[in-house]
Amino acid sequence: MRIILLGAPGAGKGTQAQFLMNKFGIPQISTGDMLRAAIKAGTELGKKAKEVMDAGQLVSDELIIGLVKERIAQDDCKGGFLLDGFPRTIPQADAMKENGIDVDYVIEFDVPDQVIVDRMGGRRVHPASGRVYHVVYNPPQVEGKDNETGEDLVIRPDDEEATVRKRLGIYHEQTKPLVDYYQAEASAGNCTYLTLDGTQAVDAVSATLAEKLG
Ligand code: AP5
Repeated sequence: MRIILLGAPGAGKGTQAQFLMNKFGIPQISTGDMLRAAIKAGTELGKKAKEVMDAGQLVSDELIIGLVKERIAQDDCKGGFLLDGFPRTIPQADAMKENGIDVDYVIEFDVPDQVIVDRMGGRRVHPASGRVYHVVYNPPQVEGKDNETGEDLVIRPDDEEATVRKRLGIYHEQTKPLVDYYQAEASAGNCTYLTLDGTQAVDAVSATLAEKLG
């Protein structure tokens, strides 16, 4: 099972990635989480990515493509993978094709911009695992703590409203064209394309996914 999750920042990709990883036993490849881990570790990649990410811009295609190619080549991806946050531009999607990386499903989360802006203010994350919460819509069992480890949850630096709006602009400009790209791929029989109403409650979105993916 090779899946791409497509959608605006805050559309719920990371939240449903947790559900799909458990359901299908495939690893989540979140380019955002990989970059944040590199920043935390102070690597060369992290140094290059930090300023760009904090400003809500995209990291260069070249850097990201190298990172994902390396990750997909690892053993745990042999039985499938879940791409969360990649591809995000047409050149990234083309690079996948050129490298013979096929996908079975492309799943688009459709959520209006204003809902996204409202959501991001309440997002809390557990950086070590990638688990995502929301203070109202998906609260942790104990306020401010991860359900499984009890460790502190944090607010992402790029969740400030002005940065979220900038990220949404970049999404419409550079990532949204992938909707047409993958719908054309689906018409050519190269994958299945699904669009989900991402404004439903978290559990309802998971239930729809379970039903559509079987
Ligand atoms: P990344 O970490 O990938 O961020 P993103 O795509 O902007 O997506 P998010 O993680 O912000 O949102 P999400 O859709 O996963 O939503 P979530 O489930 O958390 O990328 C960060 C940065 O890294 C980029 O800006 C860029 O600089 C760089 N980068 C990464 N990949 C790159 C690439 N390929 N190329 C170039 N640069 C790249 O949900 C959001 C909130 O809503 C949470 O609080 C959640 O609890 C809540 N929620 C989720 N679902 C629901 C629901 N159904 N109802 C109510 N609340 C919900």
